[in-house]
Amino acid sequence: MEKKRLVFSGVQPTGNLHLGNYLGALKNFVSLQKEMNCIYCVVDLHAITVFQNPNELRNNVLETLASFLATGLDPDKSIIFNQSSVSGHTELAWILNCVSKIGWLNRMTQFKDKAGSDKEKASVGLYIYPNLMAADILLYKATHVPVGADQKQHLELSRDIAQKFNNDFNCKDFFPLPEPLISKNISRVMSLRDGTKKMSKSEESDYSRINLKDTKDEISKKIKKAKSDSNQIPDNLKDLDTKPEALNLINIYSEISNNNIEKVLNEMSGKEYSFLKTKLADLLISEITPVGKEIKKLLGDKAHLEQILQKGKEKANIIAEENLKNIREKVGLI
Ligand code: TRP
Repeated sequence: MEKKRLVFSGVQPTGNLHLGNYLGALKNFVSLQKEMNCIYCVVDLHAITVFQNPNELRNNVLETLASFLATGLDPDKSIIFNQSSVSGHTELAWILNCVSKIGWLNRMTQFKDKAGSDKEKASVGLYIYPNLMAADILLYKATHVPVGADQKQHLELSRDIAQKFNNDFNCKDFFPLPEPLISKNISRVMSLRDGTKKMSKSEESDYSRINLKDTKDEISKKIKKAKSDSNQIPDNLKDLDTKPEALNLINIYSEISNNNIEKVLNEMSGKEYSFLKTKLADLLISEITPVGKEIKKLLGDKAHLEQILQKGKEKANIIAEENLKNIREKVGLI
């Protein structure tokens, strides 16, 4: 039997989305939307696993939604909503908390990174975060999950949980085992100042990232100042092994110009990085500044954004409730 393909992905409401979110997630979401049924969720419940200022959280959810729309996600084609508005996520998360194992969670590297040195002080929510992520995906019986490389381990856990549920409750194939879709060319956009760190909104210097709302001048300045290399651009990737910042610029150029790395190196080898930077800045300006303008425009009409969330919630809830009915029955809940 041919299984129906369904994409699910979640993005944390951070506000101020940047080029890493854009190339690593949003652009990919838009192209998937053309081929498959897709559900895109702003995961506010994941965000609160570390303390969030309530007003900022509300704004960030709307800003993340605005970024989805400005990039080209279409609420008439895809289901777009925020996680906390569909209560099935938390209900299934509880059931999966009882399926998942402590030993599995103890292996999650993201928890170790985020909890830092004093794990006793991390919230319980942060610890069981991956079970909630499994619930997000399995609630819709999603088959494909576009994620960054850093989420691969969580996705593997989701597969383990799905498999264990199917075994425990004797319902082979009830939950499909979700497949990761990790974008081929670039799964990580790195900081413009330190090519070993992911581009992140939490890095202190704004020069480390290109924000979607940056102006033309800001983009130019940031690319000009980005760390690169005083040697000329090489003709092979191997020579960039020890030059993560230079490699990052080439990666970004390759993504944004829609050319593979080999082609970019062919075109650029022997040239100075300043040459690459000028071309890169031009491309970024023409692609990113219209998105930033659209985000700002959309944020001017919050009622409209809330309406979109409401519509998405209704559509998501229909699928969630249908699946939950069967899940409750499998587990023996009356
Ligand atoms: N943990 C993901 C991240 O930080 C966000 C997320 C939550 C997610 N639920 C999801 C991604 C379900 C994919 C599918 O990027």
